[in-house]
Amino acid sequence: MKIIMLGAPGAGKGTQAKMIAEKYGIPHVSTGDIFRANIKNGTELGMEAKKYMDQGLLVPDELTVKILLDRVAQEDCGKGYVLDGFPRTIPQAEVLEEALNKLGEKIDFAVNVDVPDENIVRRMSGRRACLKCGATYHVEHIPPKKEDVCDTCGSELVLRDDDKPETVSNRLKVYHEQTQPLIDFYTARGILKTVDGTLDMKDVFASITDILG
Ligand code: AP5
Ligand code: MG
Ligand code: ZN
Repeated sequence: MKIIMLGAPGAGKGTQAKMIAEKYGIPHVSTGDIFRANIKNGTELGMEAKKYMDQGLLVPDELTVKILLDRVAQEDCGKGYVLDGFPRTIPQAEVLEEALNKLGEKIDFAVNVDVPDENIVRRMSGRRACLKCGATYHVEHIPPKKEDVCDTCGSELVLRDDDKPETVSNRLKVYHEQTQPLIDFYTARGILKTVDGTLDMKDVFASITDILG
C-alpha cells in the first residue's frame, strides 16, 4: 500500500504517518526528517536544505525529488510506504507519478489531515522533536514520559528551529500557495480522503484506518 499524507505544517502528518507505518508494516518516509538528520550530521545536503528550512521556505524540487526517489527505491519500500511531507508541489507530484507509472505502480490513497490555521501555531510552539529517531511530542497533548527525553530512544528533545511563530506563519503561507493545490491534483485522480485533524490523535487515526481498511 502506498500512501501520501497531505496537510498544513503541524496538522499531524508525522504523528499519523508513524502510526500507519506501524499498523501496516510499511516504512514511514519523511523528507523533513531526512533533511533534519542531514543537518544534525552536518552533511552538504543538510547545509543546503537548512538555508531554506530556517526561513520556512521549500527546499528546491531538484534536490528533494532525487532524495525521495532514492529512498523509495530501497528494498524496504517494496511492499509500499507512507510519504510524509512529499510531494509538496505539483512538479514533485508529477515526477512521483511518472516514476511510479514506469514501474506500473500507483499511489493508493492521499490522506489530507485537515486543521485550520488558527490551531496550527498553538500546536507548533508546544511541539518537541527527537532529532535522532524522528519521534514527535507535544508538551500538553502528547507529553513524553520524562520531560524533554525521547520515550523511544532516550535522546534529548528539542524545539525545532523552524517552529518559531514567525517561521510558522511563513510555512503556512508557503503551504497555501504551493502545497494546497495538491488537494485538487489528487481529487482529480479519485484518491483524496480528508480527515478532521482537530480531533484527538487516536480519533484521527481511527478515521484513517476506516479509509485504509
Ligand atoms: P516537515 O518536517 O515536513 O514539516 P511540516 O510540513 O512543516 O510539518 P510538520 O512536521 O511541522 O508537522 P506535521 O504535520 O508532521 O505535524 P506533527 O505530527 O509533528 O518539513 C520541514 C521543512 O523541510 C519544510 O518547511 C521544507 O523547508 C523542508 N521540506 C520537507 N519536505 C519537503 C519537500 N517535499 N519539498 C520541499 N521542501 C521540503 O504534529 C504537530 C504537533 O501537534 C506535535 O507536537 C504533535 O504532538 C501535536 N499533535 C499531532 N496530532 C495532534 C492531535 N490530533 N491533537 C493535538 N495535538 C496533536
Ligand atoms: Mg512532520
Ligand atoms: Zn528518539
